[in-house]
Amino acid sequence: MTKEQIKKLTDMSRTSGWAAKIGPDILAQVLCKLPKTKHDNLLVGIDTADDAAIYKVNDDLALVETLDFFTPVVDDPYSFGQIAAANSLSDVYAMGGEPVICMNIACFPKELPKKTIENILRGGYDKVTEAGALLVGGHTVDDKEPKYGLSITGYVHPEKYLSNASAKAGDILILTKPIGVGVLNTALKGGLLNDKEIKNLIEIMATLNKNAKDAMVKVGANSCTDITGFGLLGHALEMAAGSKVSINIFANKIPVIDGAIDYAKMGIIPEGTYNNKKYAEKNILIDESVEREMVDLGFDPQTSGGLLISLSKENADDMKAALENFGVKYGVIGEVLEEAEYKIYYKNQWGDYERAI
Ligand code: CO
Ligand code: CO
Repeated sequence: MTKEQIKKLTDMSRTSGWAAKIGPDILAQVLCKLPKTKHDNLLVGIDTADDAAIYKVNDDLALVETLDFFTPVVDDPYSFGQIAAANSLSDVYAMGGEPVICMNIACFPKELPKKTIENILRGGYDKVTEAGALLVGGHTVDDKEPKYGLSITGYVHPEKYLSNASAKAGDILILTKPIGVGVLNTALKGGLLNDKEIKNLIEIMATLNKNAKDAMVKVGANSCTDITGFGLLGHALEMAAGSKVSINIFANKIPVIDGAIDYAKMGIIPEGTYNNKKYAEKNILIDESVEREMVDLGFDPQTSGGLLISLSKENADDMKAALENFGVKYGVIGEVLEEAEYKIYYKNQWGDYERAI
């Protein structure tokens, strides 16, 4: 095969990154048919659609177990490896855990150059090392579409993990990365992004949620999840449903990656957005003041998105200071309410004291 025949990484996949995730409705229909694993030591299982499972080993130690892998989001193999690893590690951080041992999960087409494979794996290795964890092995299968990610075991104290099902009425919500990754990945696939936009997008996706997690653990929070395939509103909905609360999300307070609003206005929307919207819509009251592009971005599937942290108002100033100390950009994007008619109220915040209900 000549060099010209070697396709770009993103051209080898039908959809990119988290947009490739199977729709939440299909997943829910299948999972509800299967038996639910119950065990005294299983502190978090499949019931609450949490980011990772938690298994208690003894009174001081619980294991955090998760895996993730997906198709290329960018053409640079090293960056793809970094992004896929950062995304996988994020589910451990979302539980307040520390990743310890990682294994590669990979699918590569036979014609993929060895150098490309090496660079993907090197990107993953470097992120695992940056996370302070160990890469100890893996498994690779032949596949037409390249895919890469990690299976991870982490540690957490059995009483200190953060579920997505423990947000409390009165909490505020902090988001630790800007959204718009799905829109920008779609624009990238269409060849619309300039070098600066690509560089910024890669940097955001490849950033570990480690610092955000460290700040969160230091200050203390009630609940956490990371924003990935179901989009900000989809994951907020899982948090609200699991926690039996309702949530105000303020569209005009959400940090958005530069350029994403313009591309969303142009209608450059990944297919996953519509699946996410269709699934979550009936539980979300969208105020008519929210601009259309912000509605789309609310459901935009993120690849390696930030943490959505729910914490008591009293800890808000400490958390902001800790995040700033750790160099994490964030937005205070919502608040938790008593359970109400809708799970999510998506609206603009015009004043500090305004409430949806
Ligand atoms: Co997650
Ligand atoms: Co995951």
